[in-house]
Amino acid sequence: MENLKNDLFIRACKREKTERTPIWIMRQAGRYLPQYRAIRKKADFMTMCKTPELASEVTIQPVDIIGVDAAIIFSDILVIPEAMGMELQMIENRGPVFPKPINNHHDISHLKNITPETDLKYVLDAVELTKKELNGRVPLIGFCGSPWTLMTYMVEGSGSKNFSKVKKFIFNNPELAHILLNKLASACAAYLSAKIQSGVNAVQIFDTWGGLLSPNDYKEFSLQYIQQIISNLKKSDEPVILFSKGVHHSIRKIAKSGIDVLGLDWTLNIGKIKKRVSHLVALQGNLDPTVLYADAEIIKMKAKAVLESYGEGTGHIFNLGHGILPDASPENLKVLVDFIKNESQRYHQF
Ligand code: CP3
Repeated sequence: MENLKNDLFIRACKREKTERTPIWIMRQAGRYLPQYRAIRKKADFMTMCKTPELASEVTIQPVDIIGVDAAIIFSDILVIPEAMGMELQMIENRGPVFPKPINNHHDISHLKNITPETDLKYVLDAVELTKKELNGRVPLIGFCGSPWTLMTYMVEGSGSKNFSKVKKFIFNNPELAHILLNKLASACAAYLSAKIQSGVNAVQIFDTWGGLLSPNDYKEFSLQYIQQIISNLKKSDEPVILFSKGVHHSIRKIAKSGIDVLGLDWTLNIGKIKKRVSHLVALQGNLDPTVLYADAEIIKMKAKAVLESYGEGTGHIFNLGHGILPDASPENLKVLVDFIKNESQRYHQF
């Protein structure tokens, strides 16, 4: 592997010994940072994603400003459906919208089979530029959405309260849903492989909406396709992380799916999960993101409880249990990161 000056994150992913617990934060490149908002004022979100210099600059901001142990390439999970031909709008205070959502077989057959090297070249260029700019300071993470999570947006057309459209789709048209999920799994595998080829040191799959499904449906419509991505990845030893939300019923199955790291939401007891699956995977997480609204002393107390729950030994990557919220305070995040860097050393002394 290349010469990384700080490879704590990669070693923890592989459950190798580290001097302390590494920390990075989901959605760490984002609106909570005034330095991000300054750039965002000049360019809309998709322009930022598609301009390697801007994407690279905001990717590195949290490394410089907050001191995290890994960078995650600035982009979005929805660049895949956009590259497949769906018009994507990012609407202020509303989030992503697909004005023409997927309704039928015709819509699915019109989705393009993407070639990441051409259709998503701007992401790969951003990865290459960011690797150059990082110059080995910390590892770079690449990511995609799970096929199920992508499909929820593609069918709903936007975020949703009860996800009734995508639920109707899988129950009334399961064959069609599987055709779409297969197409997405192929695109995701090609995309992550291309990112690895371009230099990312680890990849994370975001299955934000896996928890909408019953245990059996989760296996059929989400986990199966995550496994398909993993088995089709072209990589050497880059760790694969899966962030799942609300899937407490399937922890053991997920841990056996071929991933290296399991990302936990904050509703799970990380110590209890460690007892069940630490022979299979490293664990990432899982401080409640809203704890960052509290005072420094409370943040430290709650963060210490997560460290204490995981206990001694390697295989823990500290993170929030979901993305940092746009109104979180950067100063409070810095308190958290500094605290973890100091306090975690005692869990690695044997
Ligand atoms: O983690 C990082 O810092 C890297 C960048 C990143 C973004 N989105 C940037 C972004 C990552 C990893 C994502 C993943 C993503 N995108 C997910 C999965 C993770 C999760 O949080 O559940 C999902 C579901 C999306 C889809 C998406 N993109 C939504 C729902 C929204 C709107 C909500 C919101 O947070 O604004 C986006 C827009 C988006 N993606 C922004 C950023 C920084 C805000 C855009 C802006 O600056 O206006």
